[in-house]
Amino acid sequence: MSERILVIGACGQIGTELVEALAGIYGNGNVLATDVREAGNVPDVPYRKLDVLDQKGVAQIIMEFRPHQIYHLAALLSATAEKNPKLGWQLNMDGLFYVLDAALEAGVGKVYWPSSIAAFGPNTPSLNTPQYCVMDPNTVYGISKLAGERYAEYYFKRYGLDVRSIRYPGLIGWKAAPGGGTTDYAVSIYYDALQSGHHNCFLREDTLLPMLYMPDAIRATLEMMHAPADQVKIRSSYNLSGMSFTPTQIAESIARVMPGFSISCEPDYRQAIADSWPGSIDDSHARADWGWKHQYDLDAMTADMLHNLKTVKGIGKP
Ligand SMILES: NC(=O)c1ccc[n+]([C@@H]2O[C@H](COP(=O)([O-])OP(=O)(O)OC[C@H]3O[C@@H](n4cnc5c(N)ncnc54)[C@H](O)[C@@H]3O)[C@@H](O)[C@H]2O)c1
Repeated sequence: MSERILVIGACGQIGTELVEALAGIYGNGNVLATDVREAGNVPDVPYRKLDVLDQKGVAQIIMEFRPHQIYHLAALLSATAEKNPKLGWQLNMDGLFYVLDAALEAGVGKVYWPSSIAAFGPNTPSLNTPQYCVMDPNTVYGISKLAGERYAEYYFKRYGLDVRSIRYPGLIGWKAAPGGGTTDYAVSIYYDALQSGHHNCFLREDTLLPMLYMPDAIRATLEMMHAPADQVKIRSSYNLSGMSFTPTQIAESIARVMPGFSISCEPDYRQAIADSWPGSIDDSHARADWGWKHQYDLDAMTADMLHNLKTVKGIGKP
């Protein structure tokens, strides 16, 4: 395929894997990775430093590169945004407007922008959370995601911009470090399993949260972006899910292959954030509209995470 793809916020947990996948489909030279960081982290894929809050810079790079698709991933995540709420709002909202407006101006074909289960809140039905329900987020991150969802739909309906979005649950992957979210424990627990055999969790042991393994998340993103426009019926953001588990359950999954692994729990400020989020998600619209199907359950993810951290990253080796 000869389309050009611009990725903004490309050096984070999702961007690192998405850029690799996009380069595999469209060719290295057709993907331009950008981030506020000094250097890119996917070899052989062109990289430019770009601060998404530099409105002129965003418009300029889009005018120069003329992308067919933009993936806008730059954001302050849930836990980090609670520490700096003003910056969280500014980055998550102004950044989105700069990208949407410049995309519209330049006639970009499709824009991807992820939302999150953080867009739900304490009065949302917490089990099998429906696509449409009460949404009363009480974190600045969640408020920005809900507002962003409304604007995504507004830009589609009012201006015809083909914006597509998924409400990711907690994402777990081994290639890049997570960026300060409330579900990050589910990545560090695997490092701890290999390095010390014990994990001290910042959430309570019975905190049920929806999660997805990164290969499934990347595949979902690309499948939705490649679906014909009329199959993408929801223009705010799609519920998406793969599995739900508690800290106890992920520890049990690890202990099944690493007997003796143990967990302790010392909940911190992130517990309140997790408590306001759903425990499981109804993603039947994504399944019906564009054929979403997850592949990894908890034990399959555990096996793959431990294998790759050990053999590719050398974690736990003396
Ligand atoms: N990882 C998850 O579990 C998860 C879950 C739900 C939604 N999401 C959403 O997915 C998107 C990507 O998340 P991620 O996990 O890769 O986050 P991350 O924190 O790992 O990466 C974000 C990237 O944005 C970059 N960035 C920060 N400020 C910037 C700026 N001013 N200009 C340009 N780049 C900037 C950072 O350097 C970083 O590389 C975000 O919108 C996030 O809200 C992630």
